Amino acid sequence: MEIEAASAMMKKGMDTTDPDRDYQCRVHEVKLETHDPDEPKETRNDVALTWEDVWVMVSDKSKGVKPILQGVTGYARPGELLAIMGPSGCGKSTLLDTLAGRLSSNTRQTGDILVNGHKQALAYGTSAYVMQDDILLATLTVREAVYYSAQLQLPDYTPVSEKRERAETAIREMGLQDAVDTRIGGWGTKGLSGGQKRRVSICLEIVTRPKLLFLDEPTSGLDSAASYYVMSRIASLGQRDGIRRTIITSIHQPSSEVFQLFHNLCLLSSGRTVYFGPASAATDFFALNGFPCPTLQNPSDHFLKTINKDFDVDIEQGAPGKISTEEAINTLVKSYGSSPNCQEVLGEVARINKQGHGAPAKGGSHAKFVTQCLVLTRRSSLNMYRDQGYYWLRLAVYIIVAVGLGTIFSDIGSSYSSIQARGSFLVFVASFLTFMAIGGFPSFVEDMKVFARERLNGHYGTGAFVVGNTISSIPYLLLISLIPGAIAYYLTGLQRGWEHFLYFVAVMFTCMMLVESLMMTVASIVPTFLMGIITGAGIQALMILGGGFFRLPNDLPLLIWKYPLYYIAFHRYAYEGLFKNEFEGLKLPSQPGNKTSFISGEQLLTEIWQMNMEYSKWVDLVVLIGMVILYRVMFLAIVKGTEVVKPAMVVCTSMTPEQTKQIMMNPSD
Ligand SMILES: Nc1ncnc2c1ncn2[C@@H]1O[C@H](COP(=O)(O)OP(=O)(O)O)[C@@H](O)[C@H]1O
Ligand SMILES: [Mg+2]
Repeated sequence: MEIEAASAMMKKGMDTTDPDRDYQCRVHEVKLETHDPDEPKETRNDVALTWEDVWVMVSDKSKGVKPILQGVTGYARPGELLAIMGPSGCGKSTLLDTLAGRLSSNTRQTGDILVNGHKQALAYGTSAYVMQDDILLATLTVREAVYYSAQLQLPDYTPVSEKRERAETAIREMGLQDAVDTRIGGWGTKGLSGGQKRRVSICLEIVTRPKLLFLDEPTSGLDSAASYYVMSRIASLGQRDGIRRTIITSIHQPSSEVFQLFHNLCLLSSGRTVYFGPASAATDFFALNGFPCPTLQNPSDHFLKTINKDFDVDIEQGAPGKISTEEAINTLVKSYGSSPNCQEVLGEVARINKQGHGAPAKGGSHAKFVTQCLVLTRRSSLNMYRDQGYYWLRLAVYIIVAVGLGTIFSDIGSSYSSIQARGSFLVFVASFLTFMAIGGFPSFVEDMKVFARERLNGHYGTGAFVVGNTISSIPYLLLISLIPGAIAYYLTGLQRGWEHFLYFVAVMFTCMMLVESLMMTVASIVPTFLMGIITGAGIQALMILGGGFFRLPNDLPLLIWKYPLYYIAFHRYAYEGLFKNEFEGLKLPSQPGNKTSFISGEQLLTEIWQMNMEYSKWVDLVVLIGMVILYRVMFLAIVKGTEVVKPAMVVCTSMTPEQTKQIMMNPSD
């Protein structure tokens, strides 16, 4: 009711002053939807969240352990909006992460966090988290992005029309209907404004209509009118479709209108609770403790000013008579601890936990794995098609290089010197042409970021991502191995015959896939894309050296180079396959002065190139394909492994509250 009153008031007040009237009206005309009859009954449960004496610590080199949150207690009730406020660095994001169960692995956490009075992980579909950064696929339009998100997350039994409707509703709710067909943009391509991107990020998460919504600073980067409308939409999500949603948001600088939308306020300073309770009572609390809010001042500005100690020195110098912010904070924290507000919070936490809202919150259904793979393949193909840097630029460069190769080695002939020339040509193709597959890495890293966000939010798993990425890249890789491959092959005049040409293209294609798979694995280990490119290039350079061409297999130093590098470098199998493909069946003139005037291709392979002839070129191709699969499985295992290991590490390293308090009392220990 408060929200409606506030929004009505706002509308009245702003109608005459705001030039963006259309926008306001549109945001307010959002329909009230009827409840989804397909939704299983048990998922309609409300979610109440309580947390008691939550501590979060990180290891710090200088201090040993640094507390980020210090004994925070609070609750979030269904149908209500809880705002977490405080100066930057006070622990707002950390509190949200803690409540959503997604703290990073280097932190230790203690304290009870209960969902409907039960200790449990938040099930899929129950909660959604909108991160502070907008990590979006730049090439998609708003409608596509939101619709893909709906397809990825909503269960298969939801009809397509319903999925579309949900996407459209989410877009309308966030006031994006004028930008539905605009590409999101980024990376120098102009698209949406920062504020619109924020709203798209919110849309992607609310299509599932979660019962519990976490938002990390949803209004940063928005102007005050847009902030108000975004927040009022978020607030109204609290009570729609007959479902009462629990919304927890951190917020940096709310205007007084936005402030009125909050039911409860959690005010933090350096990880300590300065105030928790009804937002409307916060001003009284501050006034009671000697910090009355000056008339005509935005209460939230007043609170933040009172508890921001980052600029303490300036304040002390400027006004010597005033008490320092540190003291002010200590006074407030202390008096909050002994205030009736604090007792009320404890009482409410106990009441919610006892009441328990019936059963623990159960999760909703998920889209099936196959559906997710299909949707991801479609989305990824579209992204690859539109992102010129992904494959198109590479295709152009490959064609130029292929023409270069074709002219340098044109009409290679069948003289004795053509043996060396053939070798160089094939090695260049297998090593350097495929090496250039690194060029798509920056685009892939963007994909990975989106994947990391969506995986963390539980949209889909690593398996679906790998399948989607693999299938969608196949047509493009085929294109860039077939066209440049044909140009280089026929200009040079290598062995004629379809089988030989197709084998050549197949090896080129597999090697490019291999390099992409290798880069995928690298991307899962190395944190930034520059480091990824350097690492990937380094690994490939070593493999080329150990591949058995620049130093023949029998001359390779045994340690490292021969065992194991010669056996694990994919270049070795690529060289072997391509050489066998080219030389087998050829008859070339032997070195002048030799007894016989001709030498067979097979002889050349064993005597000059020292290749293993015990198996055919097809075995080499199969090994290469096996390596593609192996690298992709490795990527999957690494991502999955960190998923399992990280939470286990958190459990192993978490301390009891007693230990935490001891550390706090003896920080030097
Ligand atoms: N995983 C982490 N490791 C080390 N320090 C961290 C970690 N997470 C947060 N911090 C530190 O904790 C403090 C609070 O961070 P955060 O919760 O992001 O603040 P904010 O209120 O701005 O969202 C910051 O000083 C930050 O550097
Ligand atoms: Mg933050």
